[in-house]
Amino acid sequence: MSRVAVVTGSNKGIGFAIVKRLCEDFDGVVYLTSRSEHLGAAAVGKLKEQGLRPEYHQLDVTDRQSITKFRDHLQNKHGSIDILINNAGYASGYGNDSFEECKKVIDINYRGVLNVQEIIYPLIRRNGRVINVSSDCGHLSNVRNEEWIERLSKQDLNIEDVNEFVDWFLESKKNGTFKTSDFVEDGHIVAYRVSKVALCALTLIQQKELESRDISVNSLHPGFVRTDMTMKIGFCTADEAAETPVYLALHAPQSLRGAYVWHDGTTRDWHDHENALFFTLAFARSWLLTSLIANVKDYFAAWLSYLLDKLKRKPIANGAR
Ligand SMILES: NC(=O)c1ccc[n+]([C@@H]2O[C@H](COP(=O)([O-])OP(=O)(O)OC[C@H]3O[C@@H](n4cnc5c(N)ncnc54)[C@H](OP(=O)(O)O)[C@@H]3O)[C@@H](O)[C@H]2O)c1
Repeated sequence: MSRVAVVTGSNKGIGFAIVKRLCEDFDGVVYLTSRSEHLGAAAVGKLKEQGLRPEYHQLDVTDRQSITKFRDHLQNKHGSIDILINNAGYASGYGNDSFEECKKVIDINYRGVLNVQEIIYPLIRRNGRVINVSSDCGHLSNVRNEEWIERLSKQDLNIEDVNEFVDWFLESKKNGTFKTSDFVEDGHIVAYRVSKVALCALTLIQQKELESRDISVNSLHPGFVRTDMTMKIGFCTADEAAETPVYLALHAPQSLRGAYVWHDGTTRDWHDHENALFFTLAFARSWLLTSLIANVKDYFAAWLSYLLDKLKRKPIANGAR
């Protein structure tokens, strides 16, 4: 029976790069999944041009029907899976987001993983691996509210604690009682921070629940990566960022469990809320110029293809031939 790896949200960015690396290094079937079939087909096409052969299935992590269809497909075709990388993610704008926008972020980044856990995790084989792609925005130091720091730090943390944390935040956005002082950076990208803190907390709970099946569950911060999510600002490429999730999926000792892993492969103490590991705007700004320079080639290529496209469409003047 062949081994199976699944990567959510993998039509572009870090997810796409993870699929590419797994196709090269993993001895088994690799699933590229996307919510849009059209974007998924284009992504698979790109990998095929490089001689790689991923399998494809549609998957929207906010849509239980979509997840169930994929689960049925996996079950019928393979029986079980070995590796699941929860990569799909969404970051809202950078201003003061509306309740609806905050809910969308939570629904994809946190509740999407809960959906996948409920529907797909039963298929994970003994000794399997789950990797939750979190962020530096997911470290506990992003939270300033003392009560929540204490509650999320407790030994017997359970799913109600985490659900109540995200509900408390969304409720405060809905009824206008949100306090920027409850989080770092004056509430900048707060919904994203809440979703990723919740995902790291969920990782600890999932690890406890899956211990009896010898499945490891780890979360990671992939780095500040030049993808669409960051408007191509960051200190590394998606290919570079794929290294740590692929290491966790294929090479890390199976004894590494419930850890919060940094982009360089080292483990960080998620509970150490006094260690300021959180993402700051100043840090992003410091990479702006470097990223523009790193992307000059891409911008030039995009501009050139735009120009060529325009020239091709230009009507031929009378007598030009
Ligand atoms: N880039 C960074 O610096 C950075 C830093 C820390 C953590 N991360 C995390 O790394 C992961 C990948 O981010 P990225 O930078 O590669 O972002 P990206 O380029 O924007 O890619 C995000 C992927 O998630 C997919 N997605 C969004 N909503 C989905 C849904 N409901 N169901 C299934 N797929 C969905 C997107 O599909 P569409 O194309 O259809 O939108 C896309 O394929 C995310 O979890 C992100 O939070 C990124």
